[in-house]
Amino acid sequence: MMRGLAFIAFTALSICVGAEDLKPVKDAGPYVPSPESVVSDMLRHAEVNSTDFVIDLGSGDGRIVLTAAKVFGARGFGVEIKDDLVVKSNEAAKKEGLADRVKFMKQDLFKTDLSQATVVTMYLLPDTVNLLKDKFLTELKPGTRIISHDYPLTGWIPEKYVQMDLEDKVMISGVTTTLIYLYVVPAKVAGKWNAQMPFAVSRVPATLSLR
Ligand SMILES: C[S@@+](CC[C@H](N)C(=O)[O-])C[C@H]1O[C@@H](n2cnc3c(N)ncnc32)[C@H](O)[C@@H]1O
Repeated sequence: MMRGLAFIAFTALSICVGAEDLKPVKDAGPYVPSPESVVSDMLRHAEVNSTDFVIDLGSGDGRIVLTAAKVFGARGFGVEIKDDLVVKSNEAAKKEGLADRVKFMKQDLFKTDLSQATVVTMYLLPDTVNLLKDKFLTELKPGTRIISHDYPLTGWIPEKYVQMDLEDKVMISGVTTTLIYLYVVPAKVAGKWNAQMPFAVSRVPATLSLR
């Protein structure tokens, strides 16, 4: 009897909550803040401005979104799984008079809706950035800039690639090398295209297949 009730309760819970919500949150990387100079460089190379909406995936103490708002005039939000960092970021936003333009939420970055972004920033583990590629192509508008600190999106060609040496990075990664990758989400042009040709060139349309 009790086992039957437990089964019904579990089934009901699964239906209400959804199997995805029951999965443990994937840890996309430890809390290691980007040095302030890298934050500025990331936003500068992405040409962030007051028309932009910046989303930082795994926002730590909020420094990327806070700087995007304070220095570059953008709006945005950060998502972070650690409670204390979310609280700290929202307090900083309030203290700096930015709370009307930025906010920070305790949320799994893999389940975050990215459709509002014009710029996405991240400093995450190399396998994690690559797990996000399909999500980027599905949810981001063409033209959205993606900036990754240190780790590339394998197989994607960056618009910009910057390498520098920073003493601050020795504490973090053991070496001074710092990389910034900038990508731009391409227009969705995959599919079969027909081009009507001048009659003198061809009587039938040319076909083009793009992947
Ligand atoms: C390397 S830190 C980067 C912090 C900040 N973006 C910066 O560059 O200064 C990565 C952050 O991602 C957070 N994180 C890890 N997995 C996450 C997940 N699934 N959803 C949201 N945040 C996550 C960690 O708690 C950590 O604060």
